[in-house]
Amino acid sequence: MMVTGKALMILVAVFIICTGGGLVISPAAAEEVPLVPAVNVFGDSTMDVGNNKFLGNFTPSFPYGVDLPLGIEPRFSNGYNMADSISKLLGFNMSPPAYLSLTPETSVEILKGLGGVNYASGGSGILDITGNASLPLSKQVEYFADTKANMTEESGGNSTEIDALLSRSLFLISDGGNDMFEFVLKGRPIIEFESFHRDLLSNYTKYVQTLYGLGARRFGLIDVPPVGCVPMMRAIFFRSFGLDGCLFPASDLARGFNKKLSIEMAELAASLPGKRYSVGSSYKLVTSYTAHPEAAGFDDVKSACCGSGMFGMETSCVPDVTTCPNHDDHLFWDAVHCTQATSNKGAKAIYDAPLEDGFAAPNNFKQLLLDDQPTSVSR
Ligand SMILES: *[C@@H]1O[C@H](CO)[C@@H](O)[C@H](O)[C@H]1NC(C)=O
Ligand SMILES: *[C@@H]1O[C@H](CO)[C@@H](O)[C@H](O)[C@H]1NC(C)=O
Ligand SMILES: *[C@@H]1O[C@H](CO)[C@@H](O)[C@H](O)[C@H]1NC(C)=O
Ligand SMILES: *[C@@H]1O[C@H](CO)[C@@H](O)[C@H](O)[C@H]1NC(C)=O
Repeated sequence: MMVTGKALMILVAVFIICTGGGLVISPAAAEEVPLVPAVNVFGDSTMDVGNNKFLGNFTPSFPYGVDLPLGIEPRFSNGYNMADSISKLLGFNMSPPAYLSLTPETSVEILKGLGGVNYASGGSGILDITGNASLPLSKQVEYFADTKANMTEESGGNSTEIDALLSRSLFLISDGGNDMFEFVLKGRPIIEFESFHRDLLSNYTKYVQTLYGLGARRFGLIDVPPVGCVPMMRAIFFRSFGLDGCLFPASDLARGFNKKLSIEMAELAASLPGKRYSVGSSYKLVTSYTAHPEAAGFDDVKSACCGSGMFGMETSCVPDVTTCPNHDDHLFWDAVHCTQATSNKGAKAIYDAPLEDGFAAPNNFKQLLLDDQPTSVSR
């Protein structure tokens, strides 16, 4: 379900189209007040809503997007992704558009600081060397700088109002998984974990600072999942050791990074006035769904829904492959990506689950965006 309780309540005329198991609100029929002026999205395939199509690189096609309404660009999933789920929780009818898809017509509101843009690119990473020919985080941040320059120009060279809108907007970043996959698949040794984390964090921090310099104040970051537990890594672990489990050193690599990311962000918040942040934990989501599948409503938390054989890894997710009958009962859609059901549940937990559940810290996203809200937004 893509419709939140809050969104439903403020619908003036409820007009719901049921498509492929997902619910979509017709933009024309909804009158919503989003919690923030805009969402600007950065990262990898967990967030990509179509940029890669313009790069001719790692573009998802059928059966990717099989549960999306016609005309919506396939995500790296059966349906919507985390960028979509979070945008809808914030009261937007849809996720912000892919940067490379923008035209002068579709940019009008964006250049007024409203709605936001999605710069994410599947396959990319925090490091420029990750994901050959995708848009690395550095390039995504450059594109945001270009957008900001156009916004300022559009408002006659005075950025005061744009900066006010940006300071209230959400800057959503989900990246790092691909860096880790490459590290693991290249067979780099555990002794290099520390220096790898240093490279990742120094680059990540630099991009957060650059965004801050361009007016970003509210950062919603998503950490790296336990990459050793995705079907691809489970299959590698099984082939190498005959064991059914997560390739634990890979998950350790992610956990170590996540821990340092939290520390780094707390330090940065202390040194950059007005910077506020929340780290949503993809790591915690996947580990908790894996430990208690039935509580989360999953039947299968180990194999790809789209694929066949052990862990769904004997064939890849291609047009003539069999998919599991109920897409929503699988945590994973393919070798590395989550289903829409996982993104929806995960986004909801990061957005407003109680802090003691551990899905977000030091605030959940709702607290991040509601506290010190200058305008009257009802709780
Ligand atoms: C990167 O991509 C280019 C063209 O897309 C290809 O020629 C090159 O071999 C790739 N490099 C690596 C390291 O995969
Ligand atoms: C910004 O302006 C430049 C030059 O006019 C244009 O090429 C570019 O597409 C614009 N970008 C956005 C996001 O509006
Ligand atoms: C920019 O705009 C703001 C309000 O829109 C105004 O208060 C400020 O004086 C302007 N700055 C300049 C340099 O014109
Ligand atoms: C970023 O990562 C590269 C390795 O890809 C590293 O050489 C560099 O020191 C890192 N830090 C910064 C701030 O660029």
